[in-house]
Amino acid sequence: MRKARATYLASMAERVLRRNDMGGWTRAAPNLYPHQWSWDTGFIAIGLAHLDTPRAARELASLFERQWRNGKVPHIVFNPDAPPDSYFPGPEHWSSAGVYPEAPPAPPYTSCLCQPPTHALGALRVWELAQERDQADAARGFLSEIYPKLLAWHRYLATERDPEGSGLVTINHPWESGTDNSPRWDGALQNVEVGDLPPFERQDLDDVDHPTERPTDEEYARYLWLVELIKRVRCDEAEIYVSHPFLVKDVLFSAILVAANETLLEIAGVVGAPEKDMALIEAWISRGRAGLEEQWDPELGLCVDHDLRRDAPLKARTVGGFAPLVAGGQAPDRLDALLRTLYSTAFLGNPKLRRPLPPSTSPTEAHFQPRNYWRGPVWPVISWLLWRSLVRAGEHGRAYDLRRVALQELSGGTFAEYYEPFTGEPLGSDDQSWTAAVTLDWLSYDDGAS
Ligand code: SER
Repeated sequence: MRKARATYLASMAERVLRRNDMGGWTRAAPNLYPHQWSWDTGFIAIGLAHLDTPRAARELASLFERQWRNGKVPHIVFNPDAPPDSYFPGPEHWSSAGVYPEAPPAPPYTSCLCQPPTHALGALRVWELAQERDQADAARGFLSEIYPKLLAWHRYLATERDPEGSGLVTINHPWESGTDNSPRWDGALQNVEVGDLPPFERQDLDDVDHPTERPTDEEYARYLWLVELIKRVRCDEAEIYVSHPFLVKDVLFSAILVAANETLLEIAGVVGAPEKDMALIEAWISRGRAGLEEQWDPELGLCVDHDLRRDAPLKARTVGGFAPLVAGGQAPDRLDALLRTLYSTAFLGNPKLRRPLPPSTSPTEAHFQPRNYWRGPVWPVISWLLWRSLVRAGEHGRAYDLRRVALQELSGGTFAEYYEPFTGEPLGSDDQSWTAAVTLDWLSYDDGAS
């Protein structure tokens, strides 16, 4: 990308982050998502770190102010000033405040779920960029404050969400995966029989051009029923393990935890954490990688999720299957196999793609839908995660190409939530904060492509 064009795109991305800045935290998007979302926050901190490292640090600190007593970081922190009908299910629906033993005082209210732990990645980026700007002392102070919170968060995931010690994180709801309506969850959702649910009115359909860009009403009924069941057991993790109908080992979530633990290890070094912490984090990393290896499906050439209720693998060709690439540290033959799948006609080599960017679901998958949320569209944050993984795997040529092509798609300047893979059309919400954030990170990466 030409320098002038790159500078212009960076200024547009910056404008999105400034516009969505609510003063200490950033809404995920102007209309569709008026609150603070957990895994968005990790990416947003990475983008903000390029603009203002103290502000980026604040972004993460704001989210962690709402961390639950058991270490859980809630998937949404609700903006108390948002109009009551701006998002569904809003704070009144979760009734988390003061009701659940582990929830922090409210307002602001939080949801009861969690999302993939991108936060350590954001915290380390703040540190790296602060050092380049002679702001290392302030950033070290930030790391010292956030480190124990990150450790408690990862400990929660490694224990409460993995009582089996498998290295794989259990999710209780598709919303916890962040990839809500991916075909990854279709099989496990069949176990969920929707009970008596009061009528509900969705808000999300007002903010997209067409309802087919979002999950269906049938899916929403299941999502809301699962929330209802979690509320009924007052978010008691042990009880959820016994009674909940949706209990799945999520390989992408688990892989992001491995990547976050590698990052946490670096942070632990900066803050001078005790040896025992380091040993613990290292053990989580090894266990996570071993757990992912167990989920390898040679037929698909991908890693697959596992339905604990039916004790069955959830076979689907989706970007989630590249989890071992995201976790890193795989044996050379596993890396080769992952790259073969990534560049096959199931993914980047598919001749119908507008650009070689990873569709969230493979076009060869029966449930692929090119315009529907996680059933086909390209999500820039997922492209960013795969790009980062390629860089870390030493696949610099491939990483270069992926970043270059991703920036071409983003140069339209809408910073969409997701893109139609065959046409490159922007879909979902415009001005999505995390899309702007990864754009800024890509633009500043110095490999000669921008
Ligand atoms: N991603 C879900 C939504 O669209 C919930 O976090 O609202």
